[in-house]
Amino acid sequence: MKSLAQRSMLTFYDKNTYTVTTPVLIEDELIGGILVQFSLGAMWREIEHAMVDFQALENKVIRQSFINIGVILALFAFLDLVLAYLIARRLSDPITSLASRAQEIGQGRYEAPSPSKMPDEFRGLADAFENMGKEINAKTVSKKFLNAVIDSMLGILVVLKPNGEMELINQATLDLLGYREAQLKDRNIATLFDTDSTFSNDLLARLSRKGRLANIESSLKTRAGKSIPVSISGSALLDCDGVVQKYILLAHDITERKQTEQNLVKYRDNLEEQVQERTRELQATHQKLLHSEKLSALGKLIGSVSHEFNNPIYGISNILHQLREHEGPLNEELNHLLDLAIRETRRMSDLIRRLQGFYQPMDEVVTLVDINEIINDILLLSDKSFNDRKIIVKKTLSPSGARIHGIADQIRQVLLNIIQNAQEAIVGKGGLICIYTRQEMEKTYIIISDDGIGIPRGNLDRIFDPFFTTKSSVKGTGLGLSISYDIIKKHGGDISVESRPEAGATFTLSLPANIAFAADQKSQSST
Ligand SMILES: Nc1ncnc2c1ncn2[C@@H]1O[C@H](COP(=O)(O)OP(=O)(O)OP(=O)(O)O)[C@@H](O)[C@H]1O
Ligand SMILES: [Mg+2]
Repeated sequence: MKSLAQRSMLTFYDKNTYTVTTPVLIEDELIGGILVQFSLGAMWREIEHAMVDFQALENKVIRQSFINIGVILALFAFLDLVLAYLIARRLSDPITSLASRAQEIGQGRYEAPSPSKMPDEFRGLADAFENMGKEINAKTVSKKFLNAVIDSMLGILVVLKPNGEMELINQATLDLLGYREAQLKDRNIATLFDTDSTFSNDLLARLSRKGRLANIESSLKTRAGKSIPVSISGSALLDCDGVVQKYILLAHDITERKQTEQNLVKYRDNLEEQVQERTRELQATHQKLLHSEKLSALGKLIGSVSHEFNNPIYGISNILHQLREHEGPLNEELNHLLDLAIRETRRMSDLIRRLQGFYQPMDEVVTLVDINEIINDILLLSDKSFNDRKIIVKKTLSPSGARIHGIADQIRQVLLNIIQNAQEAIVGKGGLICIYTRQEMEKTYIIISDDGIGIPRGNLDRIFDPFFTTKSSVKGTGLGLSISYDIIKKHGGDISVESRPEAGATFTLSLPANIAFAADQKSQSST
């Protein structure tokens, strides 16, 4: 009724019915209404049946769904695992290869290429690894190269920390000073110097002030304590604020140069002395030449004079002999005078013959020289002068002879000079000259002594020097003993002197014996 009153359609329902009302109008005039009523009981029953069916269906579906979901979940779980494995592999492979690459770099294989198959997300990282390897390689190679250069340096190189401690010491330094690197590293540079620490402190102070220094001379000390002179150059490495970071010291061994310098100084100091010595030697050589020229000229003169004397003496000698033989017996006194005249002419011709032999130009032919014979010849020549000066000559000549192999003229010259010196040393009222020869197995000795004025101690070392003489320039040149010394040395012998002032002098000569002769003598004496 209500819808009619409101002239609109109304629906309403309860549990059992569903009601729809609508007014019926004709030209807006309500003429009635329609009420339709549906019974809902059957429908509810139907619905209840349907619900029961649906429930059953739903249960079935739910059960089925659970199974399906379980399968799906298991499938998903499996897929998850596969996926996780794949993802893990995709992540872990590059990570593993990058890790092994890092290990390779750590082991020093810097230049190996990065793995070619690399997921994009790791590509950048791999490239970074490769570049890093290259960069390390470049730096490491250059460091190795630098180390090789430093260690192949022949000079000394030491790098210091600002406090003077050694940071780098090259091989040449270690070799030169006999250290191992560990023994020097971190020790103060003063350890290396053969001076107190003031020098090294001062050196570093100057380096930090000036930046660089060159050719500072000092001495290093080896581990064994030997001093080595060196020339040092150095520089200070500064940072951008001008603070010293390192000191670099370079040095080289100047032992040889120092030695040369010292020798030069020595030579310079001795130059004058050497010049004088050389001048003396030259003068001596010159004088020797003059001396031998003088002797040779004298020899020639004596040769021609004695030749001139020889003929008349030979004539006189003949006449004297004829006088004795043809004029019959003479009285005793005349006979004695004739004998004396004959003896004197013989002595004169003997003297002339010996004089000729004595001053003949020297030939340097080595022969068997009889020393005893030479001494006898000299004494014969000097006989008169010995008598005049009341000099007694006592000779003790080796009865088995005294023979050597040598140059007879030179040996004669030596003995003549020594005997003449002995004679000249005896001044005043006469004296004694002793001449003694001795033949030994390997040596022949000649000893000539006098009781003359002797030789002052200060002159003993000088008498064999050329031009050393205590005689007036008329009497002596001072060459006699120096020439004698040379001759004896040339013959492989020796000459020595013993003397005391006012107590005479003794000259001892030893010469290599004529071995064959000496051996012969020995066998004779033993039979
Ligand atoms: N027996 C001696 N006794 C003392 N002094 C001697 C003796 N022998 C040599 N002397 C000294 O040695 C010096 C050198 O002797 P050396 O024979 O060389 O020269 P010299 O006799 O002075 O001159 P030269 O031999 O050239 O004529 C002599 O001047 C003399 O002072
Ligand atoms: Mg002399």
